[in-house]
Amino acid sequence: MGLMNELTAKLRRQRSGELAVEMEKDMVLSVKGLEVNYGPINALKDVTVDVKQGSIVCILGSNGAGKTTLLKKISGVVPADKGKIHYRGEDITALDPEVITRKGIVQSPEGRQVFADLTVKENLQIGAFTLKDDALPSSMVFKTDANPRVKSILESEDVPKTIPMTREEIIRNNMERVYKMFPVLKERAAQIAGSLSGGEQQMLAIGRALMASPKLLILDEPSLGLAPMIVKDIFSTLQELNNQGTTILIVEQNALQTLKIADYGYVLKVGKIIKHADAQALLNDQELIDAYIGK
Ligand SMILES: Nc1ncnc2c1ncn2[C@@H]1O[C@H](COP(=O)(O)OP(=O)(O)OP(=O)(O)O)[C@@H](O)[C@H]1O
Ligand SMILES: [Mg+2]
Repeated sequence: MGLMNELTAKLRRQRSGELAVEMEKDMVLSVKGLEVNYGPINALKDVTVDVKQGSIVCILGSNGAGKTTLLKKISGVVPADKGKIHYRGEDITALDPEVITRKGIVQSPEGRQVFADLTVKENLQIGAFTLKDDALPSSMVFKTDANPRVKSILESEDVPKTIPMTREEIIRNNMERVYKMFPVLKERAAQIAGSLSGGEQQMLAIGRALMASPKLLILDEPSLGLAPMIVKDIFSTLQELNNQGTTILIVEQNALQTLKIADYGYVLKVGKIIKHADAQALLNDQELIDAYIGK
């Protein structure tokens, strides 16, 4: 009897261990107890955020809440005073921005920040600079966009997990994908980015991020200052990207539209997470509607 109990307990331990590993794999990003100070300014206090594989997670909050600071810390641009950030189970808290981008965390920054003096195409090419020369997983290639060699492998019965592709092939595929998503960028490939409209520049900023084959795409207020029709387009593009397998972490003040495409949401207020729930629940939260959504 004692032995049976011991075996059962062992089995349970093994199962829960396996479960923990499974859950860790399922969690793309895990931010725990993050604190960021700018001198005397306490911008983030004990912030904990989880992003599951394949989901869209949004961070809502008013001006100065600390949204950009949180994204900058995840991308490695500002240091943290406390807390840990794990990406697919790996501690990335102290890594350099370039290393973090190489791992697949790619950010489209606040205020678009395209290279105004370069053409649209050159801006996109710059987005691909962190791509490595060696083989990258096939999941980054779209079946429809793939070149004939890749296509034949993808369509064969015995589909391999990865396909070796050269850097050039990846860049070409990514660029085709961006042009397909934003045809206006293709039309304006040779135009100087500084002369694009606000909406076009936002598309370029997202397109540039996509050039780096993101596994986790981070967006800082992609809808800011754009006309409602363009905002709608941008959000449906994000939804489409997510359907194609990209996990998305998005910061927005446009709470209503963001919650409509998001799976889960966090509300940040003066550096603290004051609320977090399924997007659907937040959409029905009267307090949140009063504070951030309006009628
Ligand atoms: N480099 C900096 N030095 C000092 N204080 C900073 C710095 N960057 C941000 N802050 C302060 O930290 C707080 C959070 O700023 P942050 O940019 O993260 O807010 P936000 O939520 O992105 O706001 P917004 O919606 O206006 O973009 C603000 O009080 C801001 O003034
Ligand atoms: Mg901001």
